Amino acid sequence: MAIERTFSIIKPDATRRNITGKIITKFEEAGLRVVAQRRIKMTTEQAESFYGVHRERPFFNDLVAFMTSGPVVVQVLEGENAVARNREVMGATNPADAADGTIRKEFAESIEANSVHGSDAPETAAEEIAFFFKDEEVVG
Ligand code: CMP
Repeated sequence: MAIERTFSIIKPDATRRNITGKIITKFEEAGLRVVAQRRIKMTTEQAESFYGVHRERPFFNDLVAFMTSGPVVVQVLEGENAVARNREVMGATNPADAADGTIRKEFAESIEANSVHGSDAPETAAEEIAFFFKDEEVVG
C-alpha cells in the first residue's frame, strides 16, 4: 500500500476544550504523520465553499455557523492508506455510532460538534488539501 495523504480539521469544539494535542496523539498512534498544520479562524465564505457539497442539506447553515464559531486546526496527515486509516481513527460521524477508542467516541459532543473532519476519498483529499495549503507548505 502506497503512502497517501488526507486532509483533516480539528473542529471548534475541540480547540475550545484544549484537546488538540490529545487528538493529534490519536492520529500519531494510528500511524499518521502531521505533514502540514495551521490554526485558523475560518471565514463564512471559506466554510460555505469548503462544505459546498452539503449546501442543500438541512444542517448546512448550522454547520457553517459552527465551523466559524472558533478556531480550527487544518492539517495534512500522511501515512499508509491515510484516507481510510484516518476515517477509522475518527469513528462514525455521529458519536452515538462511533466505535470504542475512536476520536469521536472519546471526544465528540454531538453529530455537529464532532471534533474532527476527514476527507472521504483520495480525490476529495487532494481537493481539500489544495483548498487550504500550497504545495510547499506540505513537508513530508
Ligand atoms: P464532516 O465530516 O465535517 O462533514 C459534514 C459535517 O456535517 C459532518 O462532519 C457533521 O459534523 C455535520 N453534520 C451536522 N448534522 C449532520 C447530519 N444530520 N448528518 C450528517 N452530518 C451532519
